[in-house]
Amino acid sequence: MDDQFTRAETAAQSVLRRTPLRPEIGLVLGSGLGGFADSLSEAARMSYAEIPAFPRSTAIGHAGQMVIGKAGDVPVAVMQGRVHLYEGYSAQEVAFPMRVFGRMGIRAVVLTNAAGGINLNYQQGALVLIRDHINLQGSNPLTGPNDDRFGVRFPDMTQAYARPYRKLAREEAGKLGMTLHEGVYAALLGPSYETPAEIAYLRTIGADLVGMSTAFEVIAARHMGIKVLAISCVTNMAAGIVDQPLSHQEVMETGERVKTSFEALLRAVLPRMQNDAGS
Ligand code: HPA
Repeated sequence: MDDQFTRAETAAQSVLRRTPLRPEIGLVLGSGLGGFADSLSEAARMSYAEIPAFPRSTAIGHAGQMVIGKAGDVPVAVMQGRVHLYEGYSAQEVAFPMRVFGRMGIRAVVLTNAAGGINLNYQQGALVLIRDHINLQGSNPLTGPNDDRFGVRFPDMTQAYARPYRKLAREEAGKLGMTLHEGVYAALLGPSYETPAEIAYLRTIGADLVGMSTAFEVIAARHMGIKVLAISCVTNMAAGIVDQPLSHQEVMETGERVKTSFEALLRAVLPRMQNDAGS
């Protein structure tokens, strides 16, 4: 079997063959947030099943489609849905789409997700810039032999979530009159939601948000020198904060509710990231 680099290269070429666009920015749209991909112009769409070696999403609310198109004037590669460790994929498989992005020439990514709010200043529907993460998934996509063609053995993670991107996202949110919080994302395996005791523990160790994705993607992106902007939608307050059980239905409904402001923010940040991506 081909190595990961070769598989990523093959997948990237297969994607790029379907479009004349050469995006430098990639997006991953999380649960309930996939609508943005429907608004792109000059769009080429392909299901993950059509991309060689690409993992297929099984989670409800994840269309499992790659769309290359333009958001305004900015060419982008958009993943409408992702795969997770809890679906039975390995850490390497979860990060594989980032490898494909890298081989496509993507220089910056916007990762979005649905998350539970741990920080009591948040409310359901809040948008939160991820400042840093705590990887509690018990694995890492860089385990095994290092492939130097992707990056170094021990990549730095001190600036995993690019500060200049966070600054421009805050500025654009301000112009749109939106509140944009900033916080630390704890990535857990799932798929069960957390217990109230786990949420109390996560708050103690400095987490503001909890979810089941994103951290591996960030690790693989940083390994390749791809810059990261990540935004969580607080689809629910985390377990034990309000006296109500958590459900995927609620996650999807909140995603639907914030869609308009979320998409407006994406549209505003993309041109500014585009100007920066080459640098
Ligand atoms: N916990 C973990 N993942 C999540 C949550 C949550 O409360 N909400 C959305 N994704």
